[in-house]
Amino acid sequence: MATPHISAEPGDFAPAVLMPGDPKRAARIAEQLLDEPRLVSDVRGIGGYTGLHQGKPLSVMASGMGQPSLSIYATELFTQFGVERIIRVGTAGGLAADTRAGDVVIAIGAHTDSSINEKLCPGINFSATASWALLSAAVKAAGDDPRVKVGPVVSRDLFYGNTPEQVKRLAELGTLGVEMEAAALYGIAANLHKEALAVLTISDHLFDSSQDMSPAERETNFQKSLELAVAAALS
Ligand code: HPA
Repeated sequence: MATPHISAEPGDFAPAVLMPGDPKRAARIAEQLLDEPRLVSDVRGIGGYTGLHQGKPLSVMASGMGQPSLSIYATELFTQFGVERIIRVGTAGGLAADTRAGDVVIAIGAHTDSSINEKLCPGINFSATASWALLSAAVKAAGDDPRVKVGPVVSRDLFYGNTPEQVKRLAELGTLGVEMEAAALYGIAANLHKEALAVLTISDHLFDSSQDMSPAERETNFQKSLELAVAAALS
């Protein structure tokens, strides 16, 4: 049965969903990766696509921007459409000194300033972590590519909310990048006994604007993150 934000039927989605933030990127990923992609949902311009990738069922649907938006789609997919794993594919701003624009970050965990995971276990600072099976499949697919880094990211509620003190301290704490969705995805997956991973391309660096990439470079690097995300999704 359709949900408030997904106009599909159970069975319309594959067990694994790739989830970029941008709905146009979701359409391009579906076009690129899926044989005969089928549009299974189209509410608010957030298209959901299902098809086969190398003979295996795979879906793609965008999350929109930010943890509240992602939480709606992830919760409905996990609880109403038989989805077992969601792999976020998106971008992040670089934080750590050894993270450069163009790197791909596999997020082992996600710090957050959001209250979104506080309710999971009152009195405990819940650790929002990736699913080990997905994380290890992505790391294995990366081989020894030096541009692929594995570590924590931070999921902020405000894009324009990073103080210099915060970004400095987060970098000192080994945080590789800043984005806006992973912590919620990891919390929802843990709560619902499902699997989640975020594979992020570093699109720019917060301390070094000389690293900003051209659109062509962004696309090439995005392909690397997609390759790892698919390996995890279909593992
Ligand atoms: N902040 C939040 N999300 C992002 C950023 C950022 O600097 N860069 C890419 N996604």
